[in-house]
Amino acid sequence: MKALCWQGVNELSVEEVPDPRILNAQDVIVKVRLTTTCGSDLHLLGGYIPAMRAGDVIGHEFIGEVVAVGSEVRRHKMGDRVVVCSFISCGRCWYCENDLWSLCDNGNTNPGIGQALFGYEPGGVFGYSHAMGGFKGSHAEYVRVPFADYGAFPVPEGVDDTSALFASDSVPTGWMGAHLGGVKPGDVVAVWGCGAVGQMAARAAMLLGAERVISIDRYPERLAMTERHIGAETIDYSATDVGAELRERTGGRGPDVCIEAVGMEAHDTGVQGVYDQVKQQLRLETDRPSAVREAIYACRKGGSVFVLGVFGGTVDKFPLGAMMNKGLTVRGAQQHGQRYIPMLLERMAKGELKTSHLATHPMPLDEAPKGYDLFKNKKDGCVRAVFHPGA
Ligand SMILES: NC(=O)c1ccc[n+]([C@@H]2O[C@H](COP(=O)([O-])OP(=O)(O)OC[C@H]3O[C@@H](n4cnc5c(N)ncnc54)[C@H](O)[C@@H]3O)[C@@H](O)[C@H]2O)c1
Ligand SMILES: [Zn+2]
Ligand SMILES: [Zn+2]
Repeated sequence: MKALCWQGVNELSVEEVPDPRILNAQDVIVKVRLTTTCGSDLHLLGGYIPAMRAGDVIGHEFIGEVVAVGSEVRRHKMGDRVVVCSFISCGRCWYCENDLWSLCDNGNTNPGIGQALFGYEPGGVFGYSHAMGGFKGSHAEYVRVPFADYGAFPVPEGVDDTSALFASDSVPTGWMGAHLGGVKPGDVVAVWGCGAVGQMAARAAMLLGAERVISIDRYPERLAMTERHIGAETIDYSATDVGAELRERTGGRGPDVCIEAVGMEAHDTGVQGVYDQVKQQLRLETDRPSAVREAIYACRKGGSVFVLGVFGGTVDKFPLGAMMNKGLTVRGAQQHGQRYIPMLLERMAKGELKTSHLATHPMPLDEAPKGYDLFKNKKDGCVRAVFHPGA
């Protein structure tokens, strides 16, 4: 089959690779109908995620059709149209039973690297390095889906492929940020980043009752999209002091909940940003946390900051004093999609959650390297490139 392979830093190519087969009785094989790029893939492309090998198939957000079913799979049959959670979780361990799906003890078949990095390993993800299990990704014609009864979800009839695709990763991620960030009716919520994840966090905050949602980015087309399709207010951070602007817009109090949807490659033209760039390039710090810092300073006293953006290691100049003295709750997580996806698909079917506008650049899988160039460099208003592997 054809698949998009990571070949090295900023190097991708479409290659012929072996078709996947059922390896475990709980697997299904999915024929991919659509698969999309994610900000997390940019961290792979930039070489910031350890344990990638040349030839690894990337991609983790996808929808497709079940074409082979393992003997112990109970909830799926041939021909089912399913959206698949980006995280691979067993459904039976302590973490899965406690709705902490991305922390599953059995999803990551290669735990040693994560244990060395973080103390305990994170879960497994499709197409996301050998530190996260070394699973083949979804930018391919077919994917093996382990623990399919827990990770694959039937798509309601009224929801088209392009809309449902985002229920795999960006929609549940955004929802989790608002939900576990503790958004309550009447809250003011600020969201850093107007990519798919930030937009979905903003929409989730509204659906959870936030009175005002203020989204922050610098790309005019992303800001305009977030106003038009999500209904959030926006701030262009390249034109203003974000902290001062948030203070002004919240009557001097600051947002109740701050959601960071930017991650380790945050853009920052200030002195601190240059410092982070240099240290990251010299591998003296692994991540550039500008938006996290800004969120911690901007948050109201006693408020909550949720980090959705992916970070891989250590950061410098973390404002621990602000966190402690202002009594903040600071959390982060990889997405617990299995907890939210059925509910989110229902909301999509009811028209409460719209996602199709995110698919700005649909194209055949053969053109995926071009799609990544558009997405990485935010050219031509690209929010997400969506690949169709074809017949
Ligand atoms: N927690 C999870 O499970 C999970 C799941 C999916 C994605 N992610 C992470 O979420 C992040 C966003 O993903 P995406 O697909 O939306 O990416 P994206 O690249 O499309 O969007 C990121 C946006 O952040 C903006 N940005 C950069 N620096 C900023 C700053 N200083 N202040 C405000 N905005 C800034 C960029 O302009 C861009 O629009 C990534 O780090 C990704 O790895 C996490
Ligand atoms: Zn992702
Ligand atoms: Zn588990």
